[in-house]
Amino acid sequence: MTQKREDFSALLQAAKDAAGRAYAPYSGFRVGAAVLDAAGRVFTGCNVENASYGLSLCAERAALAAAVTGGAQCIQALALWFLDLSGPGEKTPDGADTPCGACRQWLVELAPEAVVVTNQTPEPMSVDSLLPNSFRIQPKNSRK
Ligand code: THU
Repeated sequence: MTQKREDFSALLQAAKDAAGRAYAPYSGFRVGAAVLDAAGRVFTGCNVENASYGLSLCAERAALAAAVTGGAQCIQALALWFLDLSGPGEKTPDGADTPCGACRQWLVELAPEAVVVTNQTPEPMSVDSLLPNSFRIQPKNSRK
């Protein structure tokens, strides 16, 4: 991959700003995401938790839903900012912060060509490297 994380500093800043607005009272783990489309438009999202834990929404999916809602075409990059490096959630000390499995499947669906950068991983990542051999279905409806 020719691009470097530094090439996405503005997008990472947008993700950091979004992380500051996260609603994460249960995990104490705030995450922000920012999506860049081919027209240069940016769409952001943060994680939004719920007392019924399984209903919680990740930052990546919030940003991707905002991008779809805003009519984004050809998503080129997704930046992620993990704001809380320690706290009530007790992250594993050796774990790199990357999108969860559900968000990877969303990326395959909505942003297969995107470059993924985070504040916790030095190198940009492709969606294919995050979820190789992914499950896909050829959509019947051409309306995306
Ligand atoms: N979270 C995200 O927003 N994105 C990820 O890729 C991993 C996890 C959120 C979900 C939950 O609100 C909190 O982080 C702890 O798992």
